[in-house]
Parts: sequence; C-alpha cells; structure tokens
Amino acid sequence: MGRPAVVLTRRWTRRAEEELARRYELRAHHDERELGRDEIVARCEGAVALCPTASDPIPAELIAALPESVRLIASFGVGVNHIDLEAAAAKGLAVSNTPGAVTEDTADLAFGLVLAVARNLARGDALVRSGRWRGVSVDDPLLGTRLWGKALGVVGLGRIGAAVARRARGFGMSVLYHNRSPSPEAERELDARYCRTLVELLEGADVVTLHCPLTDETHHLIDAAALGRMKAGALLINASRGPIVDEAALAEALASGVIAGAGLDVYEFEPRVTEALKGLPNVVLSPHLGTATRETRDAMGLRVIENIDTFLADGRPVDQVLP
Ligand code: 8YV
Repeated sequence: MGRPAVVLTRRWTRRAEEELARRYELRAHHDERELGRDEIVARCEGAVALCPTASDPIPAELIAALPESVRLIASFGVGVNHIDLEAAAAKGLAVSNTPGAVTEDTADLAFGLVLAVARNLARGDALVRSGRWRGVSVDDPLLGTRLWGKALGVVGLGRIGAAVARRARGFGMSVLYHNRSPSPEAERELDARYCRTLVELLEGADVVTLHCPLTDETHHLIDAAALGRMKAGALLINASRGPIVDEAALAEALASGVIAGAGLDVYEFEPRVTEALKGLPNVVLSPHLGTATRETRDAMGLRVIENIDTFLADGRPVDQVLP
C-alpha cells in the first residue's frame, strides 16, 4: 500500500510542503486560482486528510460529497468558522486546527495596528512618499493619541487576546477584558479587570481589540449600538474575523466621529473591503496578515502535519476540535 494521501487547497511554505511530502503523498495546489468544490472532492479521492486554510469554506454540501477515505479535516489556522462542524460531526469526521502556532505573531500584528492607528503611521508614510511633507510642525495635523496610561479592552481573552494584553502592559496600558467568565489567572498575570458585560468594556476602554471566535453569537457583535457605547476618542482593532464587526456601521461611526479610529486586518466580506472604509483617513487596513510571517506559516504547516500524524497513530489529532 502507498503512503496516505493528503490534499492541500493552497500553496504552503516550501519547508512545510517538503516535510509533508516526506511522510505522505502530497496533493498540492500551486496556482493562485481557488479550487472549486468539485475539484476539492475529486482531489480527495483515496486521500485520508483534507487541509483547508481559513479562507477556504468547507460547507455541509462539500463535506457530504467527500469520499469515504477522508477521515480528518486538518485546518491550517486557528479559526474553524469556515468549516461546517455539525456536518463534519454527522459524517464522523475528525477536525483539527493550529491554535498554538499562531498566537505571538497574530498578537504582534494586532498591536502593530494599535500603534499604526494611534500614531497615524500609514498617513505619515503616504505623506512622506507624496513629497508634500514640509518638516515637523508642533500642532501637527498628524498628532496622534498617547497609549501609555490608557486602557486596552480585550473582547475574548484567550491565547491571542492575552498575548495582545501582555504587549499592552509593556506599553504602560491597563487591561480590561470581557469573556463569558472571569479568568483569575489572567487577572493575576496582567492585572486585568473583568467586565461582566460587553457594554462595560466598551464604555471603559480607550482601545478595543477583538479576539473572540466568529459564531452565531458574535456575528455583528460590534454594530452601530456597540460602537455608540465606545468613547469618542476610542480606537477599534479587529484581527480576528471580519463579520464580528458590522462594516457599514463601522464606516459610518468613523466618518461621523462616533469613534476616533480603527485598525482592521480582517473584513466582513473578505477579500472584498467595504468601499466607504477605503476613503477614510482614520482607519488602517491590512490584508489579513495576522499569521503572515515565515516562521508562523512554517510552524502552522508543521503543526497540521503533527495533527495528521497523531490522528493516524491513535485516532486523535493533538489539536482536536472534533469529535
Ligand atoms: C489563516 C487565520 O489561517 O489562523 C487563522 O484562523 O485566519 C489565518 O492564520 C490564514 O488565512 C492562512 O491561510
């Protein structure tokens, strides 16, 4: 019998693909064109695992059509909102993700957005490149807002949220957080204050950063009403999932001064970005770069392989989402 086959939906880093090919029959996909549903199903014929990224929807119809040989969906990334977990469970499939691999670099990117928005880095960069910069002025139009002494509000204090909070502590910020239940450990480590309600956090934070998973409950968690509860000088950062924010409401809040600024790495209709946002000076837009470092993308691929290895060895991936 040949080696078990593994299907990728996108090109991985060379290091991760080489490692995978050492152990498995690698069914790679190297062109930029996205694979259609039928193509994915066809490539899965006789394969044991399908490895989508967070940008590849795995809906119930695709899951139902997968050949019986497929026993594991080993996702490349931490979020699993792109996979219909109910359909996967009904078909008896195992599902894994890569939570540990993404934490630090995603937190860097989120905090990078905090700095970029608070200190107008993108606008400053555009000014210098345009040749219109005439030197330092004291009451500069690009005066930003100080972070030191301000409060960071973390919505979803899990691994990434806590890593962002750690960075904020290093910048002299205090930390508020909103989770379903308090985390005494985080409170000890980060001196974080628990907000029982989202509104309490929104009213108290100078910078709100979102790190909860996308679920039915968190879809449009940040809508016009929520934005209206934030401080007028506050900033909103989203490096989690786009649909957690009502993008039209956010554009409106930024344009009318309901909040002061935003930094986004993810979008409600990714990769499409709401037109109104692109014309606003007080939002920094980055193209879903949270995990985009060579080190993290290598580590994510290697962790997917570890998930396949452990699943095949003892029926349980190390990062088990399902069963
Ligand atoms: C994606 C992400 O996996 O980890 C996640 O949940 O959103 C990203 O790391 C990235 O799009 C890789 O395709």
